[in-house]
Amino acid sequence: MSRIESLISRMTLAEKIGQLTMTACGMAVTGPTIAGDSTEAIKSGAIGNLLNLVGADIVREMQRLAIEESRLQIPLLIGYDVIHGHRTLFPIPLGEASTFDPGSWAASAREAAKEAAADGLAMTFAPMLDVSRDPRWGRIAEGPGEDPFVGARMAEAKVAGFQTADLLREDSLAACAKHYCAYGCVTAGRDYAPVDISERTLHEVHMVPFAAAVGAGVAAMMPAFTDLNGIPMTANRVLIEDWLRARWGFDGVVISDYNAVAELMRHGIAADLPDAAALSLKAGVDIDMMADAYRRGLPIALERGLVSMADIDRSVRRVLVLKERLGLFDDPYRRGKGGESPAALVARRQLSRDIATRSIVMLKNSADALPIGPVRRLAVIGPLANASAEMRGVWWGAAAPEGHVTVLEGLRAALPRAEILHSEGVDIESGDFSGIAGGVDRCASADAIVLCLGEAAVMSGEASSRAHLGLPGMQQRLAEAVFERAKSSRIPVIVVLFSGRPLVVPWLVNGADAVLAAWFLGSEAGNAIADVITGRASPSGRTPVSWPRAAGQVPIFFSERPSGRPFDAKDKFTSKYLDVANEPLFPFGFGLTYGRFAQSNLRLSAPELRFDDVLNVEIDLVNQGSREAEETVFLFTHDKIATVARPKLELKGFAKLRLTPGARGTAHISLRASDLCFLDMQLNPVFEPGEVEILVGPCADPKVLLSASVRLKG
Ligand code: BGC
Repeated sequence: MSRIESLISRMTLAEKIGQLTMTACGMAVTGPTIAGDSTEAIKSGAIGNLLNLVGADIVREMQRLAIEESRLQIPLLIGYDVIHGHRTLFPIPLGEASTFDPGSWAASAREAAKEAAADGLAMTFAPMLDVSRDPRWGRIAEGPGEDPFVGARMAEAKVAGFQTADLLREDSLAACAKHYCAYGCVTAGRDYAPVDISERTLHEVHMVPFAAAVGAGVAAMMPAFTDLNGIPMTANRVLIEDWLRARWGFDGVVISDYNAVAELMRHGIAADLPDAAALSLKAGVDIDMMADAYRRGLPIALERGLVSMADIDRSVRRVLVLKERLGLFDDPYRRGKGGESPAALVARRQLSRDIATRSIVMLKNSADALPIGPVRRLAVIGPLANASAEMRGVWWGAAAPEGHVTVLEGLRAALPRAEILHSEGVDIESGDFSGIAGGVDRCASADAIVLCLGEAAVMSGEASSRAHLGLPGMQQRLAEAVFERAKSSRIPVIVVLFSGRPLVVPWLVNGADAVLAAWFLGSEAGNAIADVITGRASPSGRTPVSWPRAAGQVPIFFSERPSGRPFDAKDKFTSKYLDVANEPLFPFGFGLTYGRFAQSNLRLSAPELRFDDVLNVEIDLVNQGSREAEETVFLFTHDKIATVARPKLELKGFAKLRLTPGARGTAHISLRASDLCFLDMQLNPVFEPGEVEILVGPCADPKVLLSASVRLKG
């Protein structure tokens, strides 16, 4: 009998349910505290998994209790939200998505895993793969943005980075893809609200990144808190058992979200805790995070006949298999050895700076305000100019508040000879505007002004939905005062905009000479921003979400299906608003560089494709600007006539090309014909003969795309 089967045969019911329980462990001044329980629970085998316990020593001590003092000596599985770094932070996921570089996505996950594993962790609750088209929802900050193709590529890269090819490695983490599924569509962008979307959108958009995570071998999956079309995901047997496990072949562990099992009662589908526990276990949720519903409810559910011992054993087996795959049985202390070399930390910081630099999206640069030329005096103004803790963004893992390079620090280091004038002007959120006049005065003699505005880090992320998507507090007033002063003295104003979502700030873009969307860039934020401002690096980030002109345009995304009454300015009865344009302020994929790229000569390797063929798409680029830069090229498709209406643009690929001034190059993107399948009326994939348009260009604005067509043959 295998180790795992032999263990299961010896386990009591309480020990089995212990393996299906994950409890938070906080650090009190006097030592660890376990919510609602004690270290006794670990010794008795009543808790088999922990979250939120960080640090080599404390992890070792907890693990020791399980190994040396519990009857069956089963190691603990310890997880944490390592979302965009652990101690060294990288850009928030939405920011990092802007690099459109799977290599970077994987590399930052690898470094985060090394740091977290050194701290004793074996699992991360990441990657977050919820596609979202609604910037009101604060958790848009944690994910890949609006597009499923990007989400799928990010899923693969992150899983590879966290897990490596071998979960036994001491520096690997089990990844947990979340939140399955469609959490990004909460009603009106309000966190935790129900989700009501079509089956087609669910399958064509929201499930796609999760399928990719399974394909990449993700070890665990977390269902969303939310109700999806009437069935809360924590009890969604169809999507967990039938799709995730049976169709996609996922054989890992499903972990509930925080307290989500008990919340089935509030959703109105469970009468009591045993009922909630049974619904969730039967749906395929193996581990109950924080609800204590399995411990308190499953024994009763068993008596009531709502679950069987076989149901419990099946989940226990999955949890034990994961612990075995992580090498925890053979050496429970394999992670948590601490102490990485100083050189490794320096290299990690450098990587963070590099990825942060490439995550910055330049939204505007009129009259080449950027990069700034030689300056004698630079004014660095605004509440986010010198805010180390804010640079971390949402989910800062185990990173201390201090030590993250601010814009002020970055610019001081980059421009040692310039005089830097600094003032906050206003706070991020308060109504106090008494500092504006002083702030504006600081700008008076400057050669250029860097105005650092935006949200606080905690204004995006969980439970941080916003109905107004402008600048908080008195920041607009500060900006307008600065613009006025700058205009009269002809001083260029460069806005560095921090946010966990696209903001609705057309007036700001109008007033500024240059705008950099800096998201939240992590530990090296200020250095990365200084690299771009001074021209040490050319910006190359592209927005992975559309930026609305007005909050009323939300949800806004490029892959809409056609209307029967497409926009026509001269015809009132067409699809439009009376008071705002249909287009976003900045489309998906938009981002300027210090180069000037022209694209031409779109070529397809074949005029016709059969299901197994691969199409090679090429486009020529020339950098007509005077600086080296990296251009991003997107490949979209449009199936103009199909049995089911297809989106006007579907993203199928992207590529990057770096060119020196005057240089020419060719971008290559390959497209598998099978990727042109879509879901028919019964939602089965179909490869439909006919013509498909291939559109290639720098962003999802149809006006700037070159097109050609290919014929699909049955
Ligand atoms: C969040 C998850 C997270 C979990 C554990 C929940 O509130 O929704 O994304 O992994 O907490 O911290």
